[in-house]
Amino acid sequence: MAFRNLLQADEGAVRTLTINRPDKLNALDRETLAELHLAFDQARSDDAIRVVILAGAGPKAFVAGADIAELAAQSPLGALEMSRFGQALMTKVERLGKPVIASIGGFALGGGMELAMACTLRIAADSAKLGQPEVNLGLLPGFGGTQRLLRLAGRGAALELCLTGAPITAQRACELGIVNRVVPAAELAAEVQKLALQLAASAPIALRAVLDAVLLGGEAPLDTGLDYESQAFAVCAATEDMREGTRAFLEKRKPAFVGR
Ligand code: COA
Repeated sequence: MAFRNLLQADEGAVRTLTINRPDKLNALDRETLAELHLAFDQARSDDAIRVVILAGAGPKAFVAGADIAELAAQSPLGALEMSRFGQALMTKVERLGKPVIASIGGFALGGGMELAMACTLRIAADSAKLGQPEVNLGLLPGFGGTQRLLRLAGRGAALELCLTGAPITAQRACELGIVNRVVPAAELAAEVQKLALQLAASAPIALRAVLDAVLLGGEAPLDTGLDYESQAFAVCAATEDMREGTRAFLEKRKPAFVGR
């Protein structure tokens, strides 16, 4: 189906979703959040899609936050509902079971930084700026930012960014472990595509197992995480892709994974 604020394009097993409100720096209004919910539901259930790229339209922004015009008119109960709706989207992205790469071409602020942090990996243009400026609006991050930033970069970074509201450069975000890689702006799309194609050619059940193990391990005691890893290792050992991967190595050729 066609979306109003979202562009969708498939190239092989890679789906690119582009948030398309460039005149509002791709701010997340309710309609866009709803479309993203639907788009990620579709990406999850489509076995032909192995990797999702998430980007923002235009040269200035990935996403400049939740839509402040909508926020300004929000009652406390409406804000509670909106926060939960946004958080549910971030969790859906994080737990998609397939890698999601955030292509951060410009501002990733507020809900934009939260959305990027829910993605599996983040590549940023050297010109990008990231931050959690909600305190400047008399708010705190409401789409999971306090929690994911804490887990991604630790308490010091979470408190600094959320308390000051000051944006940081892509390079600083990389040093803090928030962004995986920084590339020249002109090379961002190509670098993201290259990584997506590499992941799309990998064994999807193994990727899924890594995603689940790391996500679970971040929240569970070590023994629980280790036990999950062993179980998942055994499941992977029962797949055709494991036979293919090991055989291809021994035969000195590239594996062709089928997702079984
Ligand atoms: N919500 C709604 N609209 C937004 C927005 C947001 N989060 N961020 C930007 N916009 C809109 C602006 O209102 C403006 O719309 P207009 O042309 O109809 O007036 C348009 O996008 C362009 O933004 P502008 O502020 O003119 O661009 P800039 O280059 O001068 O500044 C930013 C860029 C990102 C520094 C600035 O837009 C900003 O601070 N945005 C809000 C960031 C924020 O607080 N996010 C957290 C929200 S919870």
